[in-house]
Amino acid sequence: MNKKATKNSPSRPASPETIDIGLDAKTRGQAVKLLSTILADQHVLYAKTRNFHWNLTGHRFHTLHAFFETQYEALAEASDQTAERIRMLGAASPGSMKEFLALATLREVSGVLISGDQAIAALRDDHEAAARGLRKAVDALDEAGDAGSADFLTERLQSHEQAAWMLRSFLD
Ligand SMILES: [Fe+2]
Repeated sequence: MNKKATKNSPSRPASPETIDIGLDAKTRGQAVKLLSTILADQHVLYAKTRNFHWNLTGHRFHTLHAFFETQYEALAEASDQTAERIRMLGAASPGSMKEFLALATLREVSGVLISGDQAIAALRDDHEAAARGLRKAVDALDEAGDAGSADFLTERLQSHEQAAWMLRSFLD
């Protein structure tokens, strides 16, 4: 074996654009497209949860104000990981609000005062919709052979299922 040839693989150009993780460009492109939509939805849901954290009214203010904070912090961390997963697959991540709003399947809402039940129901609906979308994405990526992205998104799916359950538990 040529020792020199194996060290740092000099037969491949030392470029950040070259990627050889066992996924062809088409599969990576499919994953990046799905991940970009998911990233956009995470941003919309982050903004909406924080909006409700601020504009909540009613007797459960303190409990829900604190709960929404833990939720939007978790979404911020999730979006960071999603964007970094896009970079692992060799693409640039969407980064502007304009891009996120164009890509998202969830819809943002304006900042107005909102009751606890209204806020909970709206977030529950979004987390449930996110879970449904992620389930489809996991199946598509499993089918395409991208086990890494499918596994990553399975964890995201579980987080949305958990969030939806917790939100439902606040409703009478
Ligand atoms: Fe706050």
